[in-house]
Amino acid sequence: MGIAHTLLGEHPVWGAYLDNLHVAHGLKRQGIGTRLLALTGQEVVAWSPSSGLYLWVLEQNSNARAFYAARGGACVERAETPPPGGDPARLNGKPMGLRYAWPDLSKLFG
Ligand SMILES: CC(C)(COP(=O)(O)OP(=O)(O)OC[C@H]1O[C@@H](n2cnc3c(N)ncnc32)[C@H](O)[C@@H]1OP(=O)(O)O)[C@@H](O)C(=O)NCCC(=O)NCCS
Repeated sequence: MGIAHTLLGEHPVWGAYLDNLHVAHGLKRQGIGTRLLALTGQEVVAWSPSSGLYLWVLEQNSNARAFYAARGGACVERAETPPPGGDPARLNGKPMGLRYAWPDLSKLFG
């Protein structure tokens, strides 16, 4: 199965923040991620019809990037990834993150 976790109203421009999306190993490429994203979008629109949705993905996560692009997400920003727990020792190098956004969810999931 899978999990999606979203923080509503997290950003004044980009809207709700999808901070965790995972499909169980062995169940990928069966449409579960698409379904979780659609359910997330529906909930966000139900909460606030004008809200967008965004997330951050590591630049090297090419599988997830391909998924978000296939689902209509636009890459709108590139930035250094903050260290986990704010501890620089927990970062290896300077990984970059990409913000993917869906500014108008009503067209996609309304
Ligand atoms: C990214 C993730 C959520 C996608 O979920 P999924 O259930 O495998 O995706 P879907 O089956 O709904 O895929 C829909 C479409 O996205 C694209 N896509 C999905 N995974 C892809 C991959 N590995 N490579 C290329 N395209 C991919 C395809 O166009 C796919 O359609 P198709 O299978 O008919 O070709 C899942 O792979 C995952 O949990 N990855 C590990 C955790 C992770 O990286 N999460 C994101 C952190 S930001």
